[in-house]
Amino acid sequence: RDHPQVQLFTAPGNAGTGALGTNLPIEGTDLDGLVRWASAEKPDLTIVGPEAPLCAGVVDRFAEAGLPIFGPNGAAARLEGSKVFTKDFLLKYNMPTAAGRGFTDAATAVAYSQTCSYPLVLKADGLAAGKGVIIAQNQAEATETIHRIMDERIFGDAGNAMVIEDFLPGREMSVHVLTDGLAHFILPIAQDHKKLGDGDSGPNTGGMGAYAPAPFATDALQKQIAREVVEPVLASLHKEGIDFRGILYIGLIWTAAGPQILEFNVRGGDPETQILLPLLETPLVDIFHAVREQRLGQLAIRLNALHAVTIVLAAAGYPGTPETGAPIEGLELELPDTFVFQGGTKQRGKDVVTSGGRVLSVTAWAGDLATARDLAYQRVAKIHFAGSQYRRDIAARLTLE
Ligand code: GLY
Repeated sequence: RDHPQVQLFTAPGNAGTGALGTNLPIEGTDLDGLVRWASAEKPDLTIVGPEAPLCAGVVDRFAEAGLPIFGPNGAAARLEGSKVFTKDFLLKYNMPTAAGRGFTDAATAVAYSQTCSYPLVLKADGLAAGKGVIIAQNQAEATETIHRIMDERIFGDAGNAMVIEDFLPGREMSVHVLTDGLAHFILPIAQDHKKLGDGDSGPNTGGMGAYAPAPFATDALQKQIAREVVEPVLASLHKEGIDFRGILYIGLIWTAAGPQILEFNVRGGDPETQILLPLLETPLVDIFHAVREQRLGQLAIRLNALHAVTIVLAAAGYPGTPETGAPIEGLELELPDTFVFQGGTKQRGKDVVTSGGRVLSVTAWAGDLATARDLAYQRVAKIHFAGSQYRRDIAARLTLE
């Protein structure tokens, strides 16, 4: 809105992106449709947000067509698209990660699970919209889950294979690394809140709120993560011949033995992106161009001294089947130093209505975390839709324990 000369197109978009630019009736995984549109319209840059198009190889298709695009190629996107590939990669290069392995048949997986101690982590191999990781408390739960993933295919083809690994107790955190394959820049460490309910109760979700920089991420902790995780991961990607250019999100757990890698995502986290963007001084588009052109080492990325908090407003029924079509009221009631990122929304006539599980991320920023948190909740209080669910304790637990 501040740059009328800039045109923004989003495929397929939502009510929020529609208000900022033009939504295109093309699904993110319709690679032919996307290449066709971009070949005709020649955008200066295409930015890929979610994992499905990245894993489907949209970056390779655009590169073949000579179209500039930001994001990792299909080979690199396997770090998110295949948990078995990732486990093999982590073990091959001796990275800090839980003991475990991949399986392609249920009988072998069940036999292995009988040799493990509990709780035990079971992961569908492929993309499962954040729902593919299940923690089994005992052998019976593990056996049932393995059959559900690999035989009943509750996650479809994502269950062609799976990973079983040890459960690691500790504090999870999200580390986002911008890399062009040569240089890298580690963004402030973010804390996601994965459970639906207050006090980390209820089922797992894609994320119900987040804050950054995490106050427990001292200089010493950040240096340890850089030394023991980020640098070895990037060096190993290089050795493996993977040209990763984009945002590498490392899902970590801080354990008694230090940081351990739980998973990779090949994109900005949702809702972590909504709190990392307000912390960047350097224009995002400059970063994207520099990453794509392998000039990141020449770009001095600047951060501000702010703290940001985001609170997700989810639809009734989420993380199961969300109720949709509820009109959202109060979006126009702005508050300084806040921004409402829209997720599952769509325009219906004059109304913005819910159209997905995580509907809005209400974000605020301030010189300290407590003020940012208060502001975010003030903005949340202005927004209403039937059945809205959100946590009241985002950014309330700030220590590492
Ligand atoms: N917040 C976790 C994710 O984006 O996958």
